[in-house]
Amino acid sequence: MVIYLHGDLGAGKTCLVRGVLNSLGYKGRVKSPTYTLLEPYLVANLNLRHFDLYRLQDKSEWDEAGFRDEFNGENILFIEWPEKALIPPADIEIYLDILTRGRTATLKSNTVIGRTCLNQL
Ligand SMILES: Nc1ncnc2c1ncn2[C@@H]1O[C@H](COP(=O)(O)OP(=O)(O)OP(=O)(O)O)[C@@H](O)[C@H]1O
Ligand SMILES: [Mg+2]
Repeated sequence: MVIYLHGDLGAGKTCLVRGVLNSLGYKGRVKSPTYTLLEPYLVANLNLRHFDLYRLQDKSEWDEAGFRDEFNGENILFIEWPEKALIPPADIEIYLDILTRGRTATLKSNTVIGRTCLNQL
């Protein structure tokens, strides 16, 4: 499951992943993968991966880190700044916007599995 998170700096992408992890029962600290690019989690028998590609330098950095292997059909991948790399397409895309008062989240599915997931919400 590949989930792209769209939204400006500070729109709440990391916060949303933190909320997902907490709701799955994760008790540890959820830090932004700003510098590490990837933070892995094992929670509720799920392998969840949180990427922030904002600081990705180039394709060789992506290749050398072995990130491609994370798209293994089993992991659940939340990806901030997906447009910074050439990566597999998303099952779900979440668009976060800051309004004058409050924020909005727009959820869009691109695949059958993505639609099945959103239908459960
Ligand atoms: N729904 C929300 N309502 C109010 N404040 C929020 C909400 N979501 C996030 N915030 C606050 O906005 C700030 C930035 O959030 P966050 O780090 O999640 O942004 P981000 O989209 O991941 O940014 P970046 O692109 O820099 O990683 C944090 O201080 C967070 O507490
Ligand atoms: Mg973030």
